[in-house]
Amino acid sequence: MSLDCHASDIGAFWLGPDPHGVLARFPPAPMVTLDKMRLISDDVVDAYIAASGITIRDDAVERLKSDAKSGMPEAVALWEHLTTVPEWVDQDTIKRAQAFYWRNSDLLGILQLTTLVLGTSFAKIQKVLFSTGYLTAERSVFRRLIETSAWVNSMMFEDALLPEHQGWATTVKVRFLHGHVRTRIRKMAVKNPQVYDEKEYGVPINQEDMIHTILDFCSGPLMKMRAMGQLVTAQNTDDYLHMWRYVSYLSGVRDEFTPLTRGIDCCASFGYSFCLHNCVMTTTDETPRKLAQVLLRGMARGVAELRALEHTQAAKEPTSEAAKSRLLEDPKTQASVQRVQTFAHGVLTDIAIRLIGPQCTAYLALRRPTFGQRVAASLLIGWWWVASRISYYAPWLGSLIASVNRSRMARIESMTGVRMHKFDMKYEPK
Ligand code: HEM
Repeated sequence: MSLDCHASDIGAFWLGPDPHGVLARFPPAPMVTLDKMRLISDDVVDAYIAASGITIRDDAVERLKSDAKSGMPEAVALWEHLTTVPEWVDQDTIKRAQAFYWRNSDLLGILQLTTLVLGTSFAKIQKVLFSTGYLTAERSVFRRLIETSAWVNSMMFEDALLPEHQGWATTVKVRFLHGHVRTRIRKMAVKNPQVYDEKEYGVPINQEDMIHTILDFCSGPLMKMRAMGQLVTAQNTDDYLHMWRYVSYLSGVRDEFTPLTRGIDCCASFGYSFCLHNCVMTTTDETPRKLAQVLLRGMARGVAELRALEHTQAAKEPTSEAAKSRLLEDPKTQASVQRVQTFAHGVLTDIAIRLIGPQCTAYLALRRPTFGQRVAASLLIGWWWVASRISYYAPWLGSLIASVNRSRMARIESMTGVRMHKFDMKYEPK
């Protein structure tokens, strides 16, 4: 690895402010266990895809339900697994976790992004991401991130995770997306072994990678919130991890492997172990640095374009994609988008630098932003700090913040055309 940066330096990002304490309580997972997890797929989905011949154009939930009704054994097994809520799931806990999410959705969203800046730097994961261009192309990065956050949002409404409800259905569809990606990559590798070597990279989208990704959505952002001095109570933490344990169950993670059952420190230790385990595969070339810039620039571009649209008629009336493109191609709009993108890129970079620390900043070669950009980042972080306290000490104001966050997300989803996203596969692996 280049830049005098050892894997344990990068891994420290996942350990948070008390690395020694965390590792004393939860020593790193043995490498043999992680090796084993890389070879385990999502068998019940793979078996159904193989038996049913379901295609990427089918509505996964409808098709599965009808195959299960007609008695296809693989469909019955998968349908039962998905619709039988495990005994350990507590619906009241999930409700509290959903409310916590909406009170903090802005910050949680930004933290997920910055975690991704590091999370995509592992070569084994990159191999799959590059195959569909997921988060690897600046032009489409913002839309893909908003689609991903639309999935998170879809799970955060009351009862959304009950079988056959909205968040349950989107999660099942995302699981099928992964199943299709895996099946395609495997098929391509049969014809051309250079495409993907399972012995070297593990099964595409395996148990280890899935757990690591899930943690980037839940325990990772919580740890960072705590490190930033946000108010996250022990109850908030337990609730949020409980909800994500159920989401990982629905996503195909085997419950016996998940650290989510053992609390936030165990999750932190898993993130660190993942980093040590995959460090040999962390690219020594420029890829992690380029990918980090793709994410930061793509995100900044999206913010700038949204702002441009918001200042025009496009925001007030549902406008066609063609009309939005025309507006964004206008030279005046482009100049203003460019200016805002440059500024937003610096603000996002500053937030990323504060979160990932000096070693990882050097590893990803992030440049220190200007004074103005740093001030803007401080103001944003300051507002989140205030908002978390307002929510805690004045719950009715917390509800107001949550509802403002909900409507802002709905507006962003509708402006980016992601409002009714179906989570079907548009980008076939190449
Ligand atoms: C269980 C953990 C995971 C969750 C919750 C998750 C979540 C998601 C979501 C919400 C999407 C849809 C985004 C969209 O519609 O644009 C998605 C797509 C995708 N994910 Fe995951 N992901 C997980 C694990 C992984 C892993 C480990 C990999 C690769 C190593 C991966 C690779 C992909 C790819 C390639 C796509 C794009 C599929 C397409 O292009 O249509 N995911 N994921």
